Amino acid sequence: MSMQEQYHITEEPFYQPTGNEVTLYEAAYQQRLPVMLKGPTGCGKTRFVEYMAWKLQKPLISVACNEDMTASDLVGRFLLEKDGTRWQDGPLTVSSRIGAICYLDEVVEARQDTTVVIHPLTDHRRVLPLDKKGELVHAHPDFQLVISYNPGYQSLMKDLKQSTKQRFTALDFEYPDENTETSIVSKESGLDVEQSKKLVQIGHRARNLKGHGLDEGISTRLLVYAANLIQAGIEPIEASKMAMVRPVTDDPDIRATLNNAVEMIFG
Ligand SMILES: Nc1ncnc2c1ncn2[C@@H]1O[C@H](COP(=O)(O)OP(=O)(O)O)[C@@H](O)[C@H]1O
Ligand SMILES: [Mg+2]
Repeated sequence: MSMQEQYHITEEPFYQPTGNEVTLYEAAYQQRLPVMLKGPTGCGKTRFVEYMAWKLQKPLISVACNEDMTASDLVGRFLLEKDGTRWQDGPLTVSSRIGAICYLDEVVEARQDTTVVIHPLTDHRRVLPLDKKGELVHAHPDFQLVISYNPGYQSLMKDLKQSTKQRFTALDFEYPDENTETSIVSKESGLDVEQSKKLVQIGHRARNLKGHGLDEGISTRLLVYAANLIQAGIEPIEASKMAMVRPVTDDPDIRATLNNAVEMIFG
């Protein structure tokens, strides 16, 4: 299997658009503009980029960023072997060479000295210098850089520099409206629409607690988990507590409020 094939998405991922994001992304891709997907956790950012890679028939290479990550984890490094050293390309370098969409998930988690390695790929030069190896990689014409960013998490200590932000176009993602989210939960899990709607109603009520004790709303991902548990034979109230209450808070008052909502809607 070639590198390109290995990273191709062969089956259409289920993605329910919530606005004109597909059209906007296609235009950005056509012009090879870097894109930032902004929004809370579990609202469909990763699914969207998988869907777009499938639709555009381009390989997708995803990297989950974290604070221990160094520039070498993105770009590559020399490996020691019995008879000398061997250079191994990192995921950003592989993407640049084969013309993949490179998705850096939660890029803000990475340290700023790691993040700057993407800069020369985002301007008209579209190059990636491999300083240690002494090579300048010219990005393949199909290469595109996509990052995700959760505005809710940002603090002064941890934010993208303006010089990074201003290299990207951006799309806002939000949790979908009730009808759209019901259809997502039902299609993802196979749970009937009526029960899916109830899960979504709990989710929407909980989102009103954001800023009043909850840092983030209950994500679409968690609603799908609850639906999966119901499909596996768990009572809806128990499933909702397991997937939608316990993961999001340890505060006894907030848990009581959420449990009440669950019992009222499924009671
Ligand atoms: N618009 C959508 N279409 C289809 N599934 C969605 C959508 N939004 C959320 N989901 C569901 O929610 C889950 C989490 O979405 P994901 O893309 O992983 O979130 P994020 O990357 O924003 O944290 C997905 O696995 C999918 O089940
Ligand atoms: Mg994600």
